[in-house]
Amino acid sequence: MSEWIEACSVDDVEEEDLIRFDHGGRTYAIYRSPDDEFYATDGLCTHEQVHLADGLVMDHIIECPKHNGRFDYRTGEAKGAPVCVNLRTYPTRVENGTVFISVE
Ligand code: FES
Repeated sequence: MSEWIEACSVDDVEEEDLIRFDHGGRTYAIYRSPDDEFYATDGLCTHEQVHLADGLVMDHIIECPKHNGRFDYRTGEAKGAPVCVNLRTYPTRVENGTVFISVE
């Protein structure tokens, strides 16, 4: 069953940036897009399990800090070598300045 959990305040994430969020022994990445929407994915790159929090957000793409693999953080879609496995995404919602993500 999925559960909404409080991840951060909207002010914790700058526009076109991301932060790391850990919960229940798992790690996630929370993104704020240039159009001010929030998204959440697994925190670790599907290539070599490096955390994406040190990566670079460009428009709707997260670029992994290790080998520059790219994902669309809205859908998790892997955008080319060396990443070929999509990133898992999670629904988000914002309520009273707080970002929630839905996890299982
Ligand atoms: S670890 Fe992310 S692209 Fe290699």
